[in-house]
Amino acid sequence: MMPPAFVEIAQLGKTYPTPAGPAEIVRDFTLNVVEGEFVCIVGHSGCGKSTVLSIVMGLNTPSTGGVVIAGREVDGPGTDRGVVFQSATLLPWMSVHDNVMLALDQVRRGVTRAAAEPYLEAVGLKGLGERYPRELSAGMQQRVGIARAFALEPRLLLLDEPFSLLDALTRMELQDELMGLWERTRKTVLMVTHDVDEALLLADRIVMMTNGPAATIGEILAVPFPRPRLREEILARADYYWLRDQILNFLEERAHA
Ligand SMILES: Nc1ncnc2c1ncn2[C@@H]1O[C@H](COP(=O)(O)OP(=O)(O)OP(=O)(O)O)[C@@H](O)[C@H]1O
Ligand SMILES: [Mg+2]
Repeated sequence: MMPPAFVEIAQLGKTYPTPAGPAEIVRDFTLNVVEGEFVCIVGHSGCGKSTVLSIVMGLNTPSTGGVVIAGREVDGPGTDRGVVFQSATLLPWMSVHDNVMLALDQVRRGVTRAAAEPYLEAVGLKGLGERYPRELSAGMQQRVGIARAFALEPRLLLLDEPFSLLDALTRMELQDELMGLWERTRKTVLMVTHDVDEALLLADRIVMMTNGPAATIGEILAVPFPRPRLREEILARADYYWLRDQILNFLEERAHA
């Protein structure tokens, strides 16, 4: 029997007003995610991935349909969801430590300053809490953004291309760190990415979106690799390249349907 859905996205549609008239960007996007599942959404640039995710974040309103998280309809942002974007959007006048404390203060009363430390440690920033964002590399800033999202202890993490602005080596490091954090906490994750290999490494299921206008889910691919996963082991599997081809084929040929 299927476990009950933790996130229910039902017949979601979004039409934006434009000077040329209404533009229907997303149509009839329906997806159920069970608790503890890691789901990646891939699709061509501009198809509407961020639109869908921003509605789940509560930062954008649907034109049709809706989103229910743990039985409650989304009607705005909340601390039950940790969000990470392409850039970390840290407060520049606060230390790294205080940026994470800001999240902790939202969800726990009377936390001590030491409470932020485990979250910084988990992303490899042990001892760097007193630095300011400007004193960090882009990769380190993004690590703080991830620490901040986890500090909320949210049941759901929403990540919109969190690693796409990083160089390839840093990206791999952060992917491994995110995977480690996820293995330990088993939060439910919904993540948008352009990177097919990233999706195959991290996801339990990969949702492939068709191109717009009126983009929707074209196919969903289940990733069969056992966990815990190691990059080297996955890359050594024959089915890795078969699955990778499935996704690339979809994006190259069938996304246009
Ligand atoms: N507020 C808005 N008003 C009008 N059109 C919008 C608005 N936000 C997004 N769009 C349009 O909706 C479409 C989808 O945008 P969205 O940002 O969701 O795409 P995306 O799949 O996340 O793209 P990318 O991969 O480049 O981030 C685009 O054509 C964009 O121009
Ligand atoms: Mg986007």
